Amino acid sequence: MIGLRLKPVAQLSRREAARELTALGEEISTHDQHYHGADAPLISDAEYDGLRRRLDDIKDKFPELAGNETLSERVGAAPAGGFSKVTHSRPMLSLSNAFDGNDVQEFADRVRRFLLLAEDSALALVAEPKIDGLSAALRYQDGRFVQGATRGDGAIGEDITANLLTIAEIPQQLEGDDWPEILEVRGEIYMRKDEFAALNKRREDAGEKVFANPRNAAAGSLRQLDATVTAARSLHFFAYSSGEMSTNTATSQWQFLAQLQAWGFRTNEHSARVEGVAAALTLYQQVAAGRSELPYDIDGVVYKVDRFDFQERLGMVSRAPRWAIAHKFPAEQVQTVLEAIDIQVGRTGALTPVARLQPVNVGGVMVSNATLHNEDEIRRKDIRIGDHVVIQRAGDVIPQVVRVVREKRSASATEYVFPSYCPVCDSPVPRDDGEAVRRCSGGLVCAAQVAERLKHFVSRNAFDIDGLGAKQVHALLQDRLIETPADIFRLHRHKAALTVREGWGEKSVENLLTAIENRRQIAFDRVIFALGIRQIGQATARLLALSYGTLDSLIAAVDAAADDSSQAYLELVNIDQIGAAVAADLIRFFQLPQNHQMVLDLAQEIDIQELAAPPPGQTPLAGKVVVFTGTLQTMGRAEAKARAETLGAKVTGSVSAKTDYLIAGADAGSKARKAADLGVQILSEDEWQAMLQQITSAN
Ligand code: IVH
Repeated sequence: MIGLRLKPVAQLSRREAARELTALGEEISTHDQHYHGADAPLISDAEYDGLRRRLDDIKDKFPELAGNETLSERVGAAPAGGFSKVTHSRPMLSLSNAFDGNDVQEFADRVRRFLLLAEDSALALVAEPKIDGLSAALRYQDGRFVQGATRGDGAIGEDITANLLTIAEIPQQLEGDDWPEILEVRGEIYMRKDEFAALNKRREDAGEKVFANPRNAAAGSLRQLDATVTAARSLHFFAYSSGEMSTNTATSQWQFLAQLQAWGFRTNEHSARVEGVAAALTLYQQVAAGRSELPYDIDGVVYKVDRFDFQERLGMVSRAPRWAIAHKFPAEQVQTVLEAIDIQVGRTGALTPVARLQPVNVGGVMVSNATLHNEDEIRRKDIRIGDHVVIQRAGDVIPQVVRVVREKRSASATEYVFPSYCPVCDSPVPRDDGEAVRRCSGGLVCAAQVAERLKHFVSRNAFDIDGLGAKQVHALLQDRLIETPADIFRLHRHKAALTVREGWGEKSVENLLTAIENRRQIAFDRVIFALGIRQIGQATARLLALSYGTLDSLIAAVDAAADDSSQAYLELVNIDQIGAAVAADLIRFFQLPQNHQMVLDLAQEIDIQELAAPPPGQTPLAGKVVVFTGTLQTMGRAEAKARAETLGAKVTGSVSAKTDYLIAGADAGSKARKAADLGVQILSEDEWQAMLQQITSAN
């Protein structure tokens, strides 16, 4: 990096200087972090001083770029408790969707009818790739970047100015001099696919949870309270529309895009101005064909009525403009060969068949595994080893096998026989009545279950131990340094053995032991959730924690409840959301002596904090009407419902004007459309999770 900055400061244009200042600030704060933080510095002191000097020289030559709060001072200044709120001076809208050419034609017809244009009159549209990122609003005053905000709920977002300052593609000073005094530029923040892969690789190596897709990674980076972390990750920005403007000389979207470029923004180079629906659809096909070659994810093409006076007249309906529509891509499907079927044994012993595929590129991501769910699914789809299969990856969703290409089946394709013994521990794998899954009966005898339980135990919503991810758990198990959760809290006794492990080093062992110490004191609901009992998710764990208060009373109650005519049993099943099935799993768990022992052993090592019940009606979800639709990835429907209700929400089954939030999982269908029509706020599962996180950490 340093060697590339050969141009003397005196020869830099203002634009180059502005860009370099941003990049330098970013680089310096990354090094600051490495230097002051736990990590070792990446460069020598002399090199660091060189960067600082260059930054100062540029600021001397271009004082107007430095402003009174310079980048390097602002970056790193993390706001104390969360982000402050920003009220959008004009609401940030969402888009209605089109799924095929007919929907697009209907959109154009609606527009013409509304504007009283002749059916066959020309209608100019601007077609732009729909970037799969997060929208942001950037406010400029007299050409200087003064504030940046997330979309939030469309009316109120969060102030992420410090984080946006670290993005090189966001100009801090506009170019030219024809900008209005007040200018709000809107666009999409995104992470490139290659940067996403590299970030995930780093996280995996560090034992951190990986992001599901580039959009989540961008969101995660942007939501960092500490802007130096944002700076260390690569984010980009495409500008595509405006919010408040004190004056606007552009008369069309196409002109406005050109203006944005002249002011120093990046706009998407695949955007085009087209006349009419047929031309729009041709462009859509072109963009779709080139989609996997693009360095970033897109999920459709947005068509916007070009003329601003038309846009003005068309206005909006519910929360979407009448003058624009998003033409979504169907889930990308690709053919490949299914080479083998492996069985994965989960935390609760569930056996999940996984298809091993000849690696293929699906939308820019290499896919070599796909879930097959269970044995019935394999039979229903008649999937055989050696078959050509169609697979798809839709948004966040884990790749799936859609169907077999029967015409290509060879005589050597073999039927798969589901095992009746656990491939890891050889215990029988019975299938309970009415259940689709087989489960390994080995419990803690099964090495796979032991590993999965430990991974669950340290995961984010459980003990959340930094630096102890899947990879580290496996390594520690292998070396027999841990076997049960309690062993984690005794790891400090093995410091010497840990330090000599390849690639661990004194510093990282130190950090790990500190992270473990930090979790010795822990809330009761996290402990219950961490045990990994079947059907006991976060919400149920919280209910149990609130109902029983201490571990001793919980264990005593569950023990007593083994007799289903007891008062204890009645009390247990009477807890809201806990029915006979959940109670049975809880009782079964504690009835196994090795589980009982494991919990008591753990209790010796930690200091469990009782929960204070949140004052009823105090959470931001209190009284809100929530509907779930589609397939949720992170929790089952029952758990999602329970969790929402714990926070005071009312969960209903259908969308109406009274609905406050629709949480749309994968493959959300008609409910999502209806919600969009009614102007109900639609949250993705990630957004919903983020909201829960915020509420629970605020309480
Ligand atoms: S225009 C009033 N243009 O899509 C219209 N949005 O589903 C506001 N998006 O919230 C958006 N690329 O985050 C527009 N070229 C583009 C876009 C785009 C991506 C996102 C944006 C918006 C969402 C709506």
